[in-house]
Amino acid sequence: MNRTHLEALLRSEEELFHRTHPKSYELYQRARQSLHGGVPMLWMIRWAGSFPVFVREAKGAHFTDVDGNHYIDFCLGDTGAMTGHAPEATLQAIIAQAAKGITLMLPYEDVIWVGEELQRRFGLPLWQFALTATDANRFALRMARLITGRPKVLVFNYCYHGTVDETFIVLDEEGTPIPRPNNMGPQIDPRYTTKVIEFNDVAALEISLSAGDVAAVLAEPVMTNIGIIHPEPGFHEALRHLTRKYGTYLIIDETHTICAGPGGYTAAHGLEPDFLTIGKPIAGGVPAAVYGFTHDVAERFQAKLVRDDSDVGGIGGTLAGNALSIAAMKATLEHVLTPAFYERAIALQERFTAGVEAVIAEFGLPWIVKRLGNRSEYWFRPVPPRNGGEAAAAIDHELDRYMHLYMLNRGILMTPFHNMALIAPETTEADVDYHTQTFREAVKTLVG
Ligand SMILES: Cc1ncc(COP(=O)(O)O)c(C=O)c1O
Repeated sequence: MNRTHLEALLRSEEELFHRTHPKSYELYQRARQSLHGGVPMLWMIRWAGSFPVFVREAKGAHFTDVDGNHYIDFCLGDTGAMTGHAPEATLQAIIAQAAKGITLMLPYEDVIWVGEELQRRFGLPLWQFALTATDANRFALRMARLITGRPKVLVFNYCYHGTVDETFIVLDEEGTPIPRPNNMGPQIDPRYTTKVIEFNDVAALEISLSAGDVAAVLAEPVMTNIGIIHPEPGFHEALRHLTRKYGTYLIIDETHTICAGPGGYTAAHGLEPDFLTIGKPIAGGVPAAVYGFTHDVAERFQAKLVRDDSDVGGIGGTLAGNALSIAAMKATLEHVLTPAFYERAIALQERFTAGVEAVIAEFGLPWIVKRLGNRSEYWFRPVPPRNGGEAAAAIDHELDRYMHLYMLNRGILMTPFHNMALIAPETTEADVDYHTQTFREAVKTLVG
């Protein structure tokens, strides 16, 4: 990679971005007067442009910004809008429910349909609700620690499960656990709470669990937050076998891997977790998350629960299970995240991946593209990484930024911080082919 050439390309894309987004720039300047960093969440300044694009409206797989630029959205709210933006069935359910009450701390009958549907999809019998996948993970970890009386949890290197304190730990180059760089103001050094090993490392898993101090392994079944890293053959069998052998609970986080099918990777591959967590798209983008568990977990939890203090026990959320999010979840599960959606979206994602692969082959690039269901991601290394450490070593922020900005300037939104693309119900073949063509043009500018 000729870095001087890349820097020049990036500068000219930045200029183009400024020229074509004057209204976004103006709003950004105004927003800076009242919002820290000019954005509602500070990491939003990490988008590829030097200021964020302000959205006018989004529908299906597309959106328009305040300058009138149109985009194909392959980011889809980093899975929160994998249902497409404002899916019709969910929208109608939201409108109808909002008129009948939004939050009461009491159930409506619809919640039973949702519980039964979650049972059917994921195979776990009992369910609870939260507002975010982060909370669903935190609550599952708390339950596991309470039941087992064990202090530690185990995660995989470079995992991401939301803002769960215990998970911000990585392995350094010597394989020693350290707090993840930029872990901001943790209550406690995660080395006290967490063991971290590489994905696909069965030997390290056995050594870590055999000490008998790990309450739960928290894992995505396929890693998706440092590129897509598939489990090697036999890894999930070993993970289940060893967690059972050492009395450790297995929490499978399906928040992103729901891209694999209607029951996520768990149903598609017959996994048998003790807990399953999922948030993001499950209510079509309305804040909602769920966590399910076995009867055995429920009984052992119940035995430790002090009912009169359960509302201040660290598992809660006043708005969790609110009527609006339940209505949105019911409509989304019933009408949007259907088997027919997956069939179409996965076929389109195969087309997307084949397009990227063809360009990589045409230019002989040392890059790969990986797919899981209707999700794919390209990564700047020649062979698929086996684990988070290998994947992290290949990150190239400058190249990432250039690819994103090149796409953004031509009406394509990819997921920030990596090169992930999702397919929504309304994504078309033309959208996919336009991405392939634009990706090819971006590559051409790089190779000269
Ligand atoms: C696998 C996984 N779990 C949980 C979360 C947390 O989701 P949220 O930020 O909506 O709480 C994320 C967020 O990216 C995620 O990728």
